[in-house]
Amino acid sequence: MSHSAVDLSAVPAHVACVMDGNGRWAAQRGLPRTAGHEAGLDALFGAVDGALEIGVQWLTVYAFSTENWRRPREEVRFLLDFNRLNLAARRHEMHQRGVRLRFIGGRDRRLPRRLLAEMDTASELTAANRRLTLTVAFNYGGRAELTEAVRKIVASGAPPGDISEATIRANLATPDMPDPDVLIRTSGEYRLSNFLLWQVAYSEMVFLDVLWPDFSREHLFEAVAEYRRRERRFGGLDQ
Ligand code: IPE
Ligand code: IPE
Ligand code: MG
Repeated sequence: MSHSAVDLSAVPAHVACVMDGNGRWAAQRGLPRTAGHEAGLDALFGAVDGALEIGVQWLTVYAFSTENWRRPREEVRFLLDFNRLNLAARRHEMHQRGVRLRFIGGRDRRLPRRLLAEMDTASELTAANRRLTLTVAFNYGGRAELTEAVRKIVASGAPPGDISEATIRANLATPDMPDPDVLIRTSGEYRLSNFLLWQVAYSEMVFLDVLWPDFSREHLFEAVAEYRRRERRFGGLDQ
């Protein structure tokens, strides 16, 4: 599908992606899983291009979950190093394109200090950009995010009767972020795997049968088109 086939008046403000299927993509080619992660990064930049092209303002991607520490040590180490190096290599390009980079997830001791430093450098460099906010969920889990919100609320001493949904939202990692309009998961798995549990309450779910390294801007446009079709039904309008 070409860009011209996307109705720009109905572009979702926020698209979230569970970038899944890197390992299977590599296995299909007889390559190590790490080659799948490398190819997956190119796909992410394709998704960013597509989002910029049609005017999506928020793109949130799941890069490493709180459960992904269960993977073999070498794969985890690869992901930590690979993400650090690519952040350093690509942050200027992102900045030039008007992308604000943000990171959500636990900043615990398992994350190398050098990776945290790269995340901070990229966030600071791009903080004033508003064309597209690319939020990278790294060492992220929806339950961990909600647990952290509860801790903060309890620590604030708020009386229970004063705690509303707004209080919880205000204590999430990114209180200013609108909820995703669309959540895309690739690789043919139909689950959330602990991604954005609070925020996806009313998101349209789009499950694509493509492995993440094969994801291109056309798949993004396809997901946007699917979102539009569902919006129309939801509103009860004639097609
Ligand atoms: C997603 O691809 C990337 C991460 C979770 C880091 P996977 O690595 O989960 O690939 P599959 O699901 O094993 O194919
Ligand atoms: C979800 O994918 C996490 C990321 C894409 C970073 P997983 O591959 O880890 O999820 P499961 O294990 O299939 O649920
Ligand atoms: Mg997976």
